[in-house]
Amino acid sequence: MSRSLIDIRDLSTTEIEELIRTAEDIIANPKKYSEVCHGKKLATLFFEPSTRTRLSFEAAMYELGGNVLSMSNAASSSAAKGESVADTAKTVSCYADIIAMRHPKEGAPLVAAMNASIPVINAGDGGHNHPTQTLADLCTISREKGRLDNLTVGFCGDLKFGRTVHSLIEALSRYTGIKFVLISPVELKLPSYVKKDVIQAHGLEYVQTTDLESVMPELDILYMTRVQRERFFNEEDYLRLKDSYILTPEKLKGAKSDLCIMHPLPRVNEISVAIDEDPRACYFKQVLNGKYMRMALIMKLLGIEV
Ligand code: NCD
Repeated sequence: MSRSLIDIRDLSTTEIEELIRTAEDIIANPKKYSEVCHGKKLATLFFEPSTRTRLSFEAAMYELGGNVLSMSNAASSSAAKGESVADTAKTVSCYADIIAMRHPKEGAPLVAAMNASIPVINAGDGGHNHPTQTLADLCTISREKGRLDNLTVGFCGDLKFGRTVHSLIEALSRYTGIKFVLISPVELKLPSYVKKDVIQAHGLEYVQTTDLESVMPELDILYMTRVQRERFFNEEDYLRLKDSYILTPEKLKGAKSDLCIMHPLPRVNEISVAIDEDPRACYFKQVLNGKYMRMALIMKLLGIEV
């Protein structure tokens, strides 16, 4: 089985920090990397909607001098005829050198990795994990704050279904001096398996609240998230909860002057566009960092050293 990235735990802390250093080197010296994947093909298999993740993987591969095979619509693939994830993975292994897969079912990219003869990257599986968004997030925190430890990190919104939240908590839990502030409606609280197996297992401090403004002054990072409509069982609950938190300039009044405001995007209503011009808004930097981290990751999984 090739080396894959299914869960952020598949990478050690040292490896994550190496990827951040590679991303920084790519930013400083893009020419050095522009042909390193010449002759290699990335297949993007997306069984769920995406803008940033798929396009950033594809841009990453092109900027490394490689090529892309793209399946962006499950309805037009053999999955619609009933093909299994395992068979799709075996098939795509005949055409490509590496796969990035997004799937609505938790665990589907793991099944693909167990059946493919090439590396598989989990580009988001249901409400479970999203390790490459975490790489983008860690790179952003490192570049903005100059560290990944000693931070008070607020997660706000849909902490139940938000897979980016689960993966980032997992990654940050390995650092010292991290405190989590979990802000959500009661119905969308962080799953207890993440709380117990990750936060408590690492002996980290956390608080849970429904009130964003009262905790705002203590935050170094505020990670806003969209309420994950596609994971709800009924539309009524979604409509009731969707606008639970809307970050406005008014609500930022008590915030630190060096707060880092993050969001994996897409944004629906969670952050007022008036905040986009605030120097503390980092969500479009996250988008760009995501491309560089995916470049670094593709090189690592293909065993390419520069
Ligand atoms: C996130 C995702 O797909 O989980 N988007 C992304 O990949 N940047 C967040 C979301 O969809 O809300």
